Amino acid sequence: MEKRQELYRGKAKTVYATDDPHRLIMHYRDDVSAFDGVKLAKLDLKGETNNKINAFVMGKLADAGVATHFLRVLNERESLVKAMKMLPIECVVRNVCAGSMAKRYGIEEGTRLREPIFEFFLKSDALHDPLCNDDHIRVLGWASAGEIAQMRALTHKVNAALAPLFAGAGIDLVDYKLEFGHPTADPAGPLVLGDEFTPDGCRLWDSRTGEKLDKDRFRRDLGQVIERYREVARRIGAPL
Ligand code: TMP
Ligand code: ASP
Repeated sequence: MEKRQELYRGKAKTVYATDDPHRLIMHYRDDVSAFDGVKLAKLDLKGETNNKINAFVMGKLADAGVATHFLRVLNERESLVKAMKMLPIECVVRNVCAGSMAKRYGIEEGTRLREPIFEFFLKSDALHDPLCNDDHIRVLGWASAGEIAQMRALTHKVNAALAPLFAGAGIDLVDYKLEFGHPTADPAGPLVLGDEFTPDGCRLWDSRTGEKLDKDRFRRDLGQVIERYREVARRIGAPL
């Protein structure tokens, strides 16, 4: 497998082509961003820490029967993934009310939810990822009714696998964001989980103390960002 040209540079990862058109390399950089790219920094060890956490979580999800784009770790900061055509939708699951949901409805952060709440957002930094519903997605052509149903079903399957994984490590999985797409090798087949699962895209609170162990440490200037990411890795058993 040969690494070829850069295809896309996101806020924290760069994607490279390979000699196989259906396989890409995801390179995790040390960059961190928040508020749709407005707040930017570099954090030592972030790339390799997230590469390793992502690989471990994607493995657990595959074990739980969730198809993912992840193939294998290549080196400290790179993993091989299936090339995907991604839907422009972010799927958020909330087990505890926090972040934008707390603000939007005037509910105190930390309020437990009777059952998980599922939200869709349009993926657009320029529009600040606006909340949207099934009708917006279907009627505006961002995804079909069948894809919406698959995103919901897969997301609930992810929650059933990950909430206990983090709970076993003394961590509350408060909320997280998932992105789905179709492998370019099977464009008409079922949806597959893409992007990443790392502390950049979820909220993780220590179950006992409530301490934040995720990117809110960066957003809210709490310090010790990567120290806490690495603590998450150790506690869930992801090799660093
Ligand atoms: P929110 O409270 O800002 O809506 O975010 C909910 C969860 O989704 C939180 O864990 C962060 C994650 N998220 C991202 O990773 N990227 C995004 O662009 C957004 C909007 C949320
Ligand atoms: N992921 C988005 C950004 O990097 C939003 C956030 O995490 O606050 O800007």
